[in-house]
Amino acid sequence: MRYLILSDIHANWAALQAVKAHVRRKRFDRVVFLGDAVGYGASPNQVLEWIRSLGPALDAVRGNHDRVCSGLDSAEYFNRFARQAATWTLNHLEERNLEFLRSFPEGPFGLTDDVAICHGSSVDEDAYIFSAHDAQLAFAGLPHQLIFFGHTHVPSLFMLREDNGKQTLKVRLLSGRRIVLDLDPDRRYLINPGSVGQPRDRDPRAAYAILDTDQRRIYLYRVAYSASVARRRILNAGLPPVLGDRLLYGA
Ligand SMILES: [Fe+2]
Repeated sequence: MRYLILSDIHANWAALQAVKAHVRRKRFDRVVFLGDAVGYGASPNQVLEWIRSLGPALDAVRGNHDRVCSGLDSAEYFNRFARQAATWTLNHLEERNLEFLRSFPEGPFGLTDDVAICHGSSVDEDAYIFSAHDAQLAFAGLPHQLIFFGHTHVPSLFMLREDNGKQTLKVRLLSGRRIVLDLDPDRRYLINPGSVGQPRDRDPRAAYAILDTDQRRIYLYRVAYSASVARRRILNAGLPPVLGDRLLYGA
């Protein structure tokens, strides 16, 4: 089985279109979405219509922006710009897309006996996994060998190995146009494929991954797209300009 893995699209239709074009010749059976379809960007309806069109081929968990932008939660913990974007999104979502957004389940969610997905962490959908300590908590929260997460917008990998009760944890940031990871059956993995629509690792290219469970292999890709088009849409929508500017730098 091959899974296309997407996270943190954040209503960036230009970035999602570039990813769709990039995967056109790659085979995948299902699409996995790790949350934050909307918020920040100016194309929430297009993004949600595409995700909805996947029908039963989709496995998804909700992100914090999905919750707030659909009115399921307040924006009190958001900064000023995220709050403005959430209000704008709620006011611009078509009814059927709003309903669809509200239907995203809370993670974590087990895809298979070995693979699970969550938005922030396996123990808290709003928690960030940046440090080795964050990763330890996330590994302890689920039994799965491989856990995909989003939320930080930084492509990253945490590997856990246990030898006679002694745990070794390795951390790696994943940068580059194409990375191939072969899964070792004696290790556990936490992997963030990066963000489609608002990368924050100083690389403005859209990020996504493909998991091949037969080959036990993960491919991570970065795809150039026109961030200036996404930025222009944000400015034209009257959203805070900083939300457009940051796309140019991947910040
Ligand atoms: Fe996000």
